[in-house]
Amino acid sequence: MAKIDQDFIQSNFPSLKTGTAFFDNAGGSQVAVPVADRITQYLLGANVQLGASYDASQKAGAAVAEGRTALALLMNADRPEEVMMGATATQLFDQLARGLVQGWQPGDEVIVTNFDHEANIGPWRKLEAQGIVIREWQMPKGADTPDLEDLRALMNDKTRLVAVTHVSNIFGSIMPIRQIADAVHEAGALICVDGVAFAPHRAVDVKALGADFYGFSVYKVYGPHHAALYGRYDLLRDHTRNINHYFYGEDKVPNKLEPGNPNYELAYGCVGVVDYLEAFAKAHGVNESGRPAIEAAFNIFADHEEVLSERLLTYLKSRDDVTIIGTPSAAKVDRVPTVAFIVNGQSSEALVRKVDPAGIGIRFGDFHSKRLVNSMELSSGDGVIRVSAVHYNTVAEIDRLIEQLESLRR
Ligand SMILES: Cc1ncc(COP(=O)(O)O)c(C=O)c1O
Repeated sequence: MAKIDQDFIQSNFPSLKTGTAFFDNAGGSQVAVPVADRITQYLLGANVQLGASYDASQKAGAAVAEGRTALALLMNADRPEEVMMGATATQLFDQLARGLVQGWQPGDEVIVTNFDHEANIGPWRKLEAQGIVIREWQMPKGADTPDLEDLRALMNDKTRLVAVTHVSNIFGSIMPIRQIADAVHEAGALICVDGVAFAPHRAVDVKALGADFYGFSVYKVYGPHHAALYGRYDLLRDHTRNINHYFYGEDKVPNKLEPGNPNYELAYGCVGVVDYLEAFAKAHGVNESGRPAIEAAFNIFADHEEVLSERLLTYLKSRDDVTIIGTPSAAKVDRVPTVAFIVNGQSSEALVRKVDPAGIGIRFGDFHSKRLVNSMELSSGDGVIRVSAVHYNTVAEIDRLIEQLESLRR
């Protein structure tokens, strides 16, 4: 197991030197230096409108295209046209839903879950107004992964799409997307996966997952405040309708689903995420580029993250007044280091506020997975406490947090 090179990390994330222990990464990560460099290059190079014939405009177009290509590489898509870009994952799911529904009939069905972030529920539920029947795949009480048989029972020949998360941003547990996708495809439907809580931790591979659509927020993957949504090319071309200007043809993939222009400098900034992962791999002895480097980097992240999860979960399990919300397993195959818990009968907000002065960034609430958190009727009364680590966090930071939690013990 390669040990994380802390000097490399510190030089790539200057904000870590502020002394804050950033444990709200599932909300948004710190930005790697190569990302900021690319954004600066774009803005201070030649900040022009795309699509004109003069040289600077052509170069700007190439830079934005490079960003889309980087996002395709990050998801292992076949071609950049399979990547929609936008401000947030929520917006992109919404655009996709609007593009797909025009090809569906009233009475067609969509299955959403009660354990997703609202980003991959709300846009689909809104289609009810257009006659689409919405069904809900529920997390069984007390479980941290859903039951595939429950999904099978919900699907029928009217099911058009199943929207499901890859990782719950509360539970941290990794869902068996390949198995789910196979079941969905057997039923003749499509699957739209929310990868927002997965993408900061493991290499996304839309082909290996069998995902038809897969979205994530680049701002949680060490990048700019930008988002990407993969759609298989033939599906985007033939099964979605243009939601952009009326004169965009149905073959204009993916722009027909991207009303307006994407943000140019942030699109180009996404190239910096690949730069960072490649540099990380190199600093850890992997002399490759592209997918092999990306996969190697994420494998090293996973090993380190498992150590962080183990440390925190071991502490939480040692307390008889704490309930872990999600899987108690620290194993990297089971979870990412997004750990939620409550201190039984105590306000989550009060505890988090007492930790704040120690310069530790954790938070409380439902994290927009409101349906899931409401379904649990927690004794805290105000949601869970969530500690979400990534590869740049250290065991020493986890220990600082444990020390704080211990000092607040009643
Ligand atoms: C699992 C999950 N999905 C979706 C989102 C929404 O992402 P965005 O802000 O890009 O819409 C979040 C944000 O926290 C999330 O955690």
